[in-house]
Amino acid sequence: MNIESKTILITGANRGVDRALVEETLNRGAKRVYGGTRQPFKHSDQRVTPVILDVTNAEQIQKAIESIAILDILVNNAGIDPHDDLSDRAGIERHLAVNLFGTHGVTQAFLPLLVRSQGAIVNVLSLAALASTVQSGIRDLEGGCVLNDAIAACSLGGTWCEVHAVFAGSVDTDMTRSLDIPKASPEYVARAILDGMERREEDIFPDPMSAGIAAGWRSSVSKMLERQFSDYAPENMAKRA
Ligand SMILES: NC(=O)c1ccc[n+]([C@@H]2O[C@H](COP(=O)([O-])OP(=O)(O)OC[C@H]3O[C@@H](n4cnc5c(N)ncnc54)[C@H](OP(=O)(O)O)[C@@H]3O)[C@@H](O)[C@H]2O)c1
Repeated sequence: MNIESKTILITGANRGVDRALVEETLNRGAKRVYGGTRQPFKHSDQRVTPVILDVTNAEQIQKAIESIAILDILVNNAGIDPHDDLSDRAGIERHLAVNLFGTHGVTQAFLPLLVRSQGAIVNVLSLAALASTVQSGIRDLEGGCVLNDAIAACSLGGTWCEVHAVFAGSVDTDMTRSLDIPKASPEYVARAILDGMERREEDIFPDPMSAGIAAGWRSSVSKMLERQFSDYAPENMAKRA
């Protein structure tokens, strides 16, 4: 799916990868970019419409739907990474409230518009969704859930909508400020996400760290199983009947 002339909602649009995605979608000729942020947000480009949207706030999600009539692409990018202490249940719940249930709430709310436009959902996940790290132990659970949730939502009742998962490695944003490791720039990652989307890659590996495992992941047992399980989706069963 190309970005040109499309209407896009990006959650967490004020900084980091999210902000870079706003700029890159504008560069590629987006017709309208809704920037979802928790605090008021301004942009000099007339094509950007700010939307107050804390992804954990059901009322704000409802107001956002009421203010958006057409949507081609939803980028679920808002997220936190508090470097979990897995012995702290409250911390895990805070994490899931944003990255899992927040994403779920926004996806469910905008799905009818996305289906109507035969649009796309882009879920920005982490490489840690594929293999746990000491700092982000909860991310493998969260990544699998977000991905399955979007796929399940899109296959319900034979509705149609593209789903892309972005498995980001380390990116140079506030989130990784304390980590002294090689990081890709948010601008590089934003371009790679949109390139992957335009090439219709289901799974996108948008930086040098993640790109190294892309081929291995695509031919992995997990991916083979995912394809096999998708054969049991009701619409695929119906096609074979
Ligand atoms: N940086 C990395 O190395 C890395 C690696 C893998 C995956 N990711 C993922 O990439 C995405 C972007 O991360 P980033 O690196 O750009 O992080 P960031 O610079 O920390 O930005 C996070 C963004 O999410 C927003 N946000 C947090 N909680 C929110 C909520 N409840 N509702 C709405 N917005 C909320 C923040 O808004 P406020 O300004 O209001 O806090 C901010 O705009 C995240 O999903 C992250 O998990 C990042």
